[in-house]
Amino acid sequence: MGHSLTEILNKVEELPTLSPVTQQVLKLTGDPAISVTELADAIVKDQVLTAKVLKMANSAYYGYSRKIFNINEAIMVMGFNGIRSLVLAASAYNIMNREVEGYFLPKGDLWKHSMTTALFARTLAQKTDLGLREHAFIAGLIHDIGKIVLSTYLKEQFKVVLDLVEVENIPFMDAEQQVLGYNHAAIGAIVAEKWNLPPMLTEAIALHHSPSEASTNPTLTSLIHVADALSMSIGAGLGGDGMLYPFDGFALERLSLTSDILDETVAAMTEHISLDETINLE
Ligand SMILES: [Fe+2]
Ligand SMILES: [Fe+2]
Repeated sequence: MGHSLTEILNKVEELPTLSPVTQQVLKLTGDPAISVTELADAIVKDQVLTAKVLKMANSAYYGYSRKIFNINEAIMVMGFNGIRSLVLAASAYNIMNREVEGYFLPKGDLWKHSMTTALFARTLAQKTDLGLREHAFIAGLIHDIGKIVLSTYLKEQFKVVLDLVEVENIPFMDAEQQVLGYNHAAIGAIVAEKWNLPPMLTEAIALHHSPSEASTNPTLTSLIHVADALSMSIGAGLGGDGMLYPFDGFALERLSLTSDILDETVAAMTEHISLDETINLE
């Protein structure tokens, strides 16, 4: 079974890729010597991407007091890290806003789950003052991207995986691992590595179901674990992960989260902010 993993990873073209503009933005935003104009010029080369970034920047979630009309303004208001998150989100939208057959996710569901998790992770980072706001957003956004890669392989074996969950009473990801020889978290981390994202992001994706195993940045991994659970709790795109989901109490302790903060976060996201408006990029 490990054999198939090698096969998948050798077929590099099957791993999702970022557009040249997005790759360029990742590079530029890591360089403090770059000017706002240089960065803006790189982004506006892709007009579709630009429109999506502005749509998110102007959504209720971000809630800036005045309308942001162009990328220059967006960069000035959100900073390099903030704009990088939105460019990645617009790019991830193209990859994830599709049907993911192997996980029985209709078109839109994986995107909704991913964006909801990203927003929860960002909000929690902000509320707990952990200083990992944009990292949390990006890791939340792509934590389940491995599902895109595994979908084709899982399609043929989905019934076997489901039977295993039922008969052996084990979490979905463990059944995935047993049947396919690998799981969506590990594959997602390989995608993140290929995109040259920093090690703490790769780790948060690899261990989003088992945060207590994290060593590089257990706090970030915990944020993603909790945000993923919150996202599932409001019913945003389960895709197998909701089955016998083992919640790791380590994450709550690590973040010193109380049930009050969690309730508050969910309420703020579902009541005061129009989630759908932030998520719908068409
Ligand atoms: Fe997952
Ligand atoms: Fe998830």
